[in-house]
Amino acid sequence: MARKDLLDLASLEREEIDLLLDQAVPFKELFTRSVKKVPALKGKSVLMLFYEPSTRTHSSFEVAAKRMSADVTNFDVAHSSVVKGESIRETVETLQAMRTDYIVVRHGSSGLPGMIANQTKASVINAGDGAHAHPTQGLLDAFTLKEVFPEPAGKKVLIVGDILHSRVARSTTKVLRALGVEVAHLGPGSLVPKTGADGVTRFTDYDEAMKWKPDVVYLLRVQMERQDVQFFPSLREYHKVYGVTCERLKRLEDEGIYLMHPGPVNRGVELCDEALDYEKSLINTQVENGIAVRMAVLYWLKPVTG
Ligand code: CP
Repeated sequence: MARKDLLDLASLEREEIDLLLDQAVPFKELFTRSVKKVPALKGKSVLMLFYEPSTRTHSSFEVAAKRMSADVTNFDVAHSSVVKGESIRETVETLQAMRTDYIVVRHGSSGLPGMIANQTKASVINAGDGAHAHPTQGLLDAFTLKEVFPEPAGKKVLIVGDILHSRVARSTTKVLRALGVEVAHLGPGSLVPKTGADGVTRFTDYDEAMKWKPDVVYLLRVQMERQDVQFFPSLREYHKVYGVTCERLKRLEDEGIYLMHPGPVNRGVELCDEALDYEKSLINTQVENGIAVRMAVLYWLKPVTG
């Protein structure tokens, strides 16, 4: 089924998830060639509309679009009429008049990409909206997991940290469970919802969670900017109780457990410096895979711009 937009993963069928993950494989193979560009989106235009900061998502969408020969425009929110009070509706109408084919949008408000999608013929891709969803992060995480576990059903992924405010936790949990992966959430009681997604095990104690025998420990970034009240005493305390300290890294190493993180990493908070050099860390692979998965998404969506 052809889709115009990618707003979340909840609305995708299992076949669509499989298709996207399969299509990302040849796009990743392209990176090893001397010419890394294909003409798939020649003549199409991609607009990057980021109201929140981003390094990985923004740059990987830009690289993905350029490798598919699309024209990329970066909408500079800080120097646009948005600062003069222009509404999102006016911005989108202006962009619509420019006949953009794809709009990649990140915004602090949950649901805003969906609102834009209803107003435009362009394909809208949610690059992260509030605490709601980050679908391409979920897909790249699933793709990365499948590279190390080609048959991921039955594998166990422990997601650690601020589940409450995390769009990454929401999207990644959804896609992994769709693939039959067992998912558990670990964090301070204040940051792990008591009524989480169905079938997700909940832990508040690190050692208890490790007895669950995860194959992957997936650390979330501590998002101080999304916390309107303090949910734990200090970052130092968080590192001690939930972070991958050097001691815990040794245990991951001994048990052959993989380590993932969506970035950006807060060193000394979610993990110690040494963890970045850990041989089973998939953090850099996640970044590389982000380009391939986003190429697959751009290739799959069908704008109605003609
Ligand atoms: N993982 C992720 O969304 O990172 P950025 O905020 O750098 O895009």
